[in-house]
Amino acid sequence: MGIVIAVISGKGGVGKTTTTANVGLGIALNNKKCVVVDFDIGQRNLDMILGLENRVVYDMVQVMDGEVKLKQALIKSKMSPNLAFLAASQTKDKSVLSSEKILALITSLKEEYDYVILDAPAGIETGYEHTIEFADRAIIVVNPEVSSIRDADRAIGILDSKSQKVKDGDEVFKYLIINRINPKMVKSGEMLSSEDILDILNIPLVGKIPEDTAIIDASNQGKPIITNKKSEAGQAYSRIAARLCGQEIDMQDVENPKSGLLKKFKGMFS
Ligand SMILES: Nc1ncnc2c1ncn2[C@@H]1O[C@H](COP(=O)(O)OP(=O)(O)O)[C@@H](O)[C@H]1O
Ligand SMILES: [Mg+2]
Repeated sequence: MGIVIAVISGKGGVGKTTTTANVGLGIALNNKKCVVVDFDIGQRNLDMILGLENRVVYDMVQVMDGEVKLKQALIKSKMSPNLAFLAASQTKDKSVLSSEKILALITSLKEEYDYVILDAPAGIETGYEHTIEFADRAIIVVNPEVSSIRDADRAIGILDSKSQKVKDGDEVFKYLIINRINPKMVKSGEMLSSEDILDILNIPLVGKIPEDTAIIDASNQGKPIITNKKSEAGQAYSRIAARLCGQEIDMQDVENPKSGLLKKFKGMFS
């Protein structure tokens, strides 16, 4: 049986979809079968980040309604045979979702895949509640900003009261990703540091991603940044995927990167 991981944040625009695409592909590249599902009904964009927008024919609502078979709606990524994608419905609104239908869909996905990753919509309304309902674990994505931390805290509150696992007396394990870190701004005190954020949220850190314009280019080209081996952000996502697959990897100090020159100099001797 696979593990269901919901990627959540409360606030919109912090990097959930970027994280879902990169972590999903990263897990697949670690030889695990992974499916990423876009739960952002009406505003799908995970298909674009994965470069699959032209291949979407059917969506998850059609699968849940029994109009098409799951196999017909799943799209295999060209970047890894282990990665599949299920699109959100673009036309129907969130009210079409129901707990029974979602449970049936997730149960079928868990039978086929080692990891089922759900990309949550922004906010903490019904669409969000449906995304976390049957999650085994959650990745909480935050930016080093007070508003993002506050919204994440609210989203966690709902996760800890409304998910099925919690209702059954269990807990949903949480991982924190701090995204869009700008080392200069952390240094000057304009941006919250990772320590500040960990103090407030008290969730185990699974990775830190620097602010990197290459992420935006990569998303526009439909090639997740993790495919760019030279990019710091891509490497950070690779490490996160490996950690989620159970590997122990040291945390890199994204906030205090070695200067380019020092790195080059050290590289000459290593
Ligand atoms: N580390 C980063 N550096 C620069 N831009 C980023 C980073 N992470 C995400 N972005 C950009 O921020 C925007 C919002 O990201 P997205 O993943 O769509 O957020 P969400 O799904 O939470 O709304 C996108 O344009 C994305 O390319
Ligand atoms: Mg999104």
